[in-house]
Amino acid sequence: MLGAKKKKDAGPVETGGRAHWASRIGLILAMAGNAIGLANFLRFPVKAAANGGGAFMIPYFCALLFLGVPLMWVEWSIGRHGGIHGHGTTPGMFALLWKHPAAKYLGALGISLPFIIVVYYNFIESWTLGFAWFSGTGKYFGLTTRDAMGQFLRGFQGVEHNQFFASWLPLLVFLALTIYLNYYFLRKGISKGIEVLAKIGMPVLFIFGIVLAIRVLTLGTPASGVSSVGEGMGFMWNPDFSQLGRASVWLAAAGQIFFTMSLGMGIINTYASYLREKDDVTLNGLTTTMTNEFAEVILGGTIAIPVAVAFFGVVETKLIANEGAFNLGFQSLPVIFQKIPMGQIFGAMWFLLLFIAGITSSVALTSPAVAFLEDEFKWKRTKAVNTVFAVMVACTALVVAFFKFGFQDELDFWAGTFGLVVFATIEIVIFSWIFGVKKGWKDMHLGADMKVPKIFKFILKYVTPVYMLVVLGAWTYQEAIGKFLMKGEEQSHHPYLGGARAMFIGLILVTVLMVWLAWRKKNKQAVSQ
Ligand code: ALA
Repeated sequence: MLGAKKKKDAGPVETGGRAHWASRIGLILAMAGNAIGLANFLRFPVKAAANGGGAFMIPYFCALLFLGVPLMWVEWSIGRHGGIHGHGTTPGMFALLWKHPAAKYLGALGISLPFIIVVYYNFIESWTLGFAWFSGTGKYFGLTTRDAMGQFLRGFQGVEHNQFFASWLPLLVFLALTIYLNYYFLRKGISKGIEVLAKIGMPVLFIFGIVLAIRVLTLGTPASGVSSVGEGMGFMWNPDFSQLGRASVWLAAAGQIFFTMSLGMGIINTYASYLREKDDVTLNGLTTTMTNEFAEVILGGTIAIPVAVAFFGVVETKLIANEGAFNLGFQSLPVIFQKIPMGQIFGAMWFLLLFIAGITSSVALTSPAVAFLEDEFKWKRTKAVNTVFAVMVACTALVVAFFKFGFQDELDFWAGTFGLVVFATIEIVIFSWIFGVKKGWKDMHLGADMKVPKIFKFILKYVTPVYMLVVLGAWTYQEAIGKFLMKGEEQSHHPYLGGARAMFIGLILVTVLMVWLAWRKKNKQAVSQ
């Protein structure tokens, strides 16, 4: 039973040696917090609705079973293995699995990718905090059309200055607060910061999520709406099998699984590096997956889209879904909150839920960079956190300044969509083929509370790598080439998109250089001893 093993609740260890999680429940909540993020509540409903509703769940569950579940175990195992040997990030972890000089440089992606993601993730997270405040105080109440709310949102984001926001100040205040809160919990460390945040945040998130889902389900056919929640659930879940033949639907499903489960980012690895040698990874890994899926499919699938259909109808909701996740969450839902009793409270609850989901993921996304400086350069945590945040603030400033030119979307594609698949492919090849499934399987079952069905040995060796390579190939062909050539992008945006790419490549190169420096230092020390 979870939390039943006293030996695992050995209390915080942050003095000397590597830090550890203080309790099993804290570990599970932190890992769930890592996985459950903005993607569960904003990205999933839009992807599902836009890709065949119920039929989307077929590729989704295939990706979950053949990519998500095995990779979750792989990342937990690699992470724990690395942590035992003093490595909290993938350069050191890969170097343990593959005795080749290139291994550590490939691992550099497990630090740079999450860092690049968090640079824009924190920005979105700050919108959720801002909108929680605007909902609670009723600032946007009175703006009852999507157009008016769109103007409000764009004003806040700094895309345009208008009658709602004449300056960047409100945005910068919420962004500063968001970054400070991330800083605060990260500086406090693993058991006293991240674990405490998860222990408070995750129960609140689930309570808010369940309350909101019940509220939506009991709306019936609202008097001020044009349809019903029942029809909304139908729109969300009625299978459109004609979509199944499209490769893009399978890619969307795989991409959603990676992002929502925090896979191919190096961040599950880093959290798992704070396990003890014989702490279970199989049952804990599966529990993390199940908790994430409950939040995504049950809660995420019940809130945003069904309520949008009830109030706007199917046709308009389709349009909204095609406009993307942000317009649904920040533009359409606020219109609806104004139409339901106690809308200010429900609105604040929705955005706070998003904020909690966001912050428990953003501290995870920042963790590899911090752990790398601590483990490989032996920096004190405070110095490591200060340095990482200084670079992060500088990079986020560019995202904010150039947001309207598509800077953020460009980073999201290369790091948050394509990069994850590339990195996860490297990871599964190293684990299953170079290190070897046999050894990996044994390692995974060290101290295990659950025996993984034998079929997964086959899945890990053949199905997951082949699936990954197919996804990667199809993605490169279908999306990456066009994206690389900036097809469909406004000419005037090209320099900014180029700037985003320069930042993306620059951050990867800096990380590779740091890995080289760290290993050179280690080698020198080894020689002089
Ligand atoms: N897994 C995190 C999310 O869903 C990053 O947003």
